[in-house]
Amino acid sequence: MPEDLLQNIRPVLLMGPGPSPVCEAAYAALGKPTLGHLDPYFIRIMDAIKEHLRQIFHTKNEMTLTISGTGSSGIEACFVNLVEPGDRVLILANGVFGKRQQDMAVRLGARVDVLDVAWGEPLLPDAVKKKLAGSAYDVVSMVHAETSTGVRNPVEEISPLVKSTDSLFIVDCVTSLGCIPVDVDRWEADAACSCSQKGLSCPPGLAPITLSARAMAKVKGRKSRVSNFYMDMTALTTYWEGDSRAYHHTAPSNMYYALYAALREFLREGEDKVFSRHLDTHAMLVRELGEMGLTLSVAAPHRLPQVNVVGIPEGVDDEQVRSRLLNEYRIEIGAGLGALAGKVWRIGLMGHGARRENVEKLLDAMRRILGR
Ligand SMILES: Cc1ncc(COP(=O)(O)O)c(C=O)c1O
Repeated sequence: MPEDLLQNIRPVLLMGPGPSPVCEAAYAALGKPTLGHLDPYFIRIMDAIKEHLRQIFHTKNEMTLTISGTGSSGIEACFVNLVEPGDRVLILANGVFGKRQQDMAVRLGARVDVLDVAWGEPLLPDAVKKKLAGSAYDVVSMVHAETSTGVRNPVEEISPLVKSTDSLFIVDCVTSLGCIPVDVDRWEADAACSCSQKGLSCPPGLAPITLSARAMAKVKGRKSRVSNFYMDMTALTTYWEGDSRAYHHTAPSNMYYALYAALREFLREGEDKVFSRHLDTHAMLVRELGEMGLTLSVAAPHRLPQVNVVGIPEGVDDEQVRSRLLNEYRIEIGAGLGALAGKVWRIGLMGHGARRENVEKLLDAMRRILGR
């Protein structure tokens, strides 16, 4: 019998840009008996997931559910449903995940326009206003928390500009949901999506999503069929809505239990406490890093508490520090993505990972490794 690799999985303190530490309730839920995807008891769990997600997304949207796939499947679901070939799409991009949206829209045969903003800078309302003036876009899309740069984009300031036009508005909340306030109805976002493995502290594998009535009207009135069967919202409705549910795909039931448990944990703690835990640990991290001579690359007003992008000091070997953290201290932090590779580290304080004791462990290890 070859070696059983599962025997040697040792815990790692996940302090990168995701996945985040999984809460105990989610781990416990994974081991519950697997139910069939149409079992009436399982449907009750799905219904509760919808209701909990509405609370956490702050929306009354009927079409609120989870796609069985990672965060990318959530954002792709927004695009395949809301974008038709030839549609005019504006992407507001200031990092890897904005550019990924551009790629998705181009693949769908849309006429894509991009407002490219320097990485590390936020999307600013004035620039968006200029871009919107005189052009009629079918869809405008942006990322709330740009994980590649650690920038918080001001959705609340950009949304009134988009809503003053006829465009549908998509917001990627993959790294924001569960870490900082997300307010879908107040933003009047037509589609928002997230993931299970960051602010919600669940393993990766699910993508919560919510679509407005206006978005669903576009889906139902499309000239062409949604090009992708798996994410077609009209098909998914038959599984998620109504008194008699029909098979659409074999839902990963144990992952749904884990998400259900994680959502309950979030609601039990209460969002105010969760968000202030993120802010508090972020402030502690920034202060202590500063004492070690390390600085954050994003200007203070635009920083995300949950993704701290730290400049790698001159002469320090990025790879060596991250592998020593992992091998000697069992702590994972993230490398720079795209143009920032080798230049920054990304330290995540997400969901249940946003705790003072975790910050202390990381800083202690970094002080030893860097000799500071
Ligand atoms: C802002 C953002 N959008 C989309 C994604 C893609 O999510 P996933 O890797 O779960 O597919 C990520 C992943 O980190 C992300 O940070």
